[in-house]
Amino acid sequence: MIQKGGIMSSEYHIPVMLHSCMEGLDIKSDGTYVDVTFGGGGHSKEILRLLGPSGRLFAFDQDPDALQNTLDDDRFQLIHQNFRFLKNNLRFAGVTQVDGILADLGISSHQIDDAARGFSTRFDADLDMRMGQSGELDARKIVNEYSEEELHRIFGMYGEIVNAKTLAKTIVNARLVDPISTINQLKAIAENVAPKRKENKYYAQLFQALRIEVNKELEALEAFLQQSVDVLKPGGRLVVMSYHSLEDRLVKNFMQKGKFRGEVEKDFYGNEIKPFKVITRKVMTASEKEVKENARARSAKLRVAEKI
Ligand SMILES: C[S@@+](CC[C@H](N)C(=O)[O-])C[C@H]1O[C@@H](n2cnc3c(N)ncnc32)[C@H](O)[C@@H]1O
Repeated sequence: MIQKGGIMSSEYHIPVMLHSCMEGLDIKSDGTYVDVTFGGGGHSKEILRLLGPSGRLFAFDQDPDALQNTLDDDRFQLIHQNFRFLKNNLRFAGVTQVDGILADLGISSHQIDDAARGFSTRFDADLDMRMGQSGELDARKIVNEYSEEELHRIFGMYGEIVNAKTLAKTIVNARLVDPISTINQLKAIAENVAPKRKENKYYAQLFQALRIEVNKELEALEAFLQQSVDVLKPGGRLVVMSYHSLEDRLVKNFMQKGKFRGEVEKDFYGNEIKPFKVITRKVMTASEKEVKENARARSAKLRVAEKI
């Protein structure tokens, strides 16, 4: 579904590292750009401000709530889709190659502050955590239906929970007595195996693991990064901001080697085959001032690469 026109809410989300993201995109006034994580539209608004009258901006968001923030500008189109389908959706919109792509990964402040969405450990609500509201997999299904081994894997890999096996077993035992439907129920179960006085950090890790699994976030990121190679023009910029180490590792490897794992591929003559030149030699983070004003900026990691 493609939307045009509308109003934007300033309460929805404060854009992180706005200036550095724009510098990374190196905006040409008549260029075509994509913001694959539209959210409250903060970054998109700035891209439009820097673009001239013949520039164009396409934005993606899978969350229907983000559609209310759409921007009333003829140069802009908002596409209500998962960015894992970047290439096909751009082709459908008549675009094959672009000058820059921005991804500001994860969830918006709006999503985390909306109790009913089930993303935050601060509220009680049904276990949901779906970013797009139409998916069949939600957090409730995972905690009640995944096997002990599967739970162990996602808690360890996506939450980096040290006693992931014990937590998985505890959840499987608890659900034999009663299905686990709410955030408070899940927290009460996890509390039994959480390190004392570090319960909140433990719940945050558990919620991160569930959120990544519900939304298949790493799979979507891999698919998006791979398609970015085809979609960017030579010299086009890829700007990605991530908020946890698993995402950042994928982004870093892909920008450096054109692969998520293993070594750079070489041609017959031993020359490296790499789609990108890395622009940010060291990962960029937000300034102390920005982190003071916006806590969400604290864990942001920004990387920029240029298509060769
Ligand atoms: C951190 S927020 C972006 C905030 C935005 N840069 C701003 O300035 O308001 C991330 C947004 O990306 C969306 N999102 C996350 N993963 C997505 C995916 N795979 N496909 C489409 N949208 C996604 C979320 O729904 C959320 O609205």
